[in-house]
Amino acid sequence: MAAGALRQAPAAPGKILPLSFFIPDNPFLNHLPFWAIIKNHFRFLGGPNLSEMIVRPFQEKDRDRVRQIAGDTANRGRPVETFFRGRSVMEDLLTDYYIQDEPQSLLVAECDGLVVGYLTGCFDQANFQKRMAWRVVPETFWRALWQGVFLRRETWRMLYNGYRTLLSGGFDKRIPIKEYPVHLHINVDSRYRHQQAGRHLMEKFFTMVRRRNLPGIHAVVRADNAAGRQFFEKMGFVQLSRHPLIWPEGEKDRQRYTLVYGKRL
Ligand SMILES: CC(C)(COP(=O)(O)OP(=O)(O)OC[C@H]1O[C@@H](n2cnc3c(N)ncnc32)[C@H](O)[C@@H]1OP(=O)(O)O)[C@@H](O)C(=O)NCCC(=O)NCCS
Repeated sequence: MAAGALRQAPAAPGKILPLSFFIPDNPFLNHLPFWAIIKNHFRFLGGPNLSEMIVRPFQEKDRDRVRQIAGDTANRGRPVETFFRGRSVMEDLLTDYYIQDEPQSLLVAECDGLVVGYLTGCFDQANFQKRMAWRVVPETFWRALWQGVFLRRETWRMLYNGYRTLLSGGFDKRIPIKEYPVHLHINVDSRYRHQQAGRHLMEKFFTMVRRRNLPGIHAVVRADNAAGRQFFEKMGFVQLSRHPLIWPEGEKDRQRYTLVYGKRL
């Protein structure tokens, strides 16, 4: 189902073509992060768009691409390798529940046939906690053990940081689940940011939540993820609470924070 198409109508015949018409849809430039911003800027001048973006429900064929984007954006929009080399382990933890247990709540943004972003939603928090505890985490643990992930120092450092986060109350988020029963994660490929993919994914998800008459959504964002915070605030989310997080940065482990954001619908 196609929704949220961004393509604008082409210039009427006889009309002077806007400057943006002459910008080539250069595949090389498309790989540069700033090019998306320039293309988006020229759209405001009224020119035709160079590519079309649609938002649609997840299909099985999207699995690898969704996992890849999850791995590429796992650390505040940067690749998982910036803090942990077990990519497939992290991809399992980030996507397995949503792909296997709630694929109907997973949306993808597609541009010229390529999945460029996704939104993983969850409408059943109790089931999420149960399935994470009894299926996803145990299965991932055995796969990680098999892959030798526990032989690496960085894994033990992360587990130790998790323990310190637990002691400092960082996992005790006490989210007001009655008011905000739905949760989501959203990630867009860095080459396709600032082109409204995030906004279109969110708006389609808001419609799904409203249809089910649910009162609100929550999401967790790192406090030092300025872009993510601004995006959520722009989408009408407000900060509900702040929680400590011990996080590896280079050789040092630093105290950071996670923020719980909520939006009433
Ligand atoms: C956050 C993210 C999902 C936004 O997706 P996007 O497709 O680039 O966002 P959009 O182009 O739809 O922008 C929607 C609005 O958010 C705001 N916004 C988006 N990125 C922003 C940024 N880096 N800085 C400031 N505002 C930003 C814009 O003002 C925009 O409003 P506008 O349409 O009025 O201009 C994307 O940057 C991303 O995947 N980041 C890495 C992962 C992440 O942080 N995920 C969310 C937290 S877990």
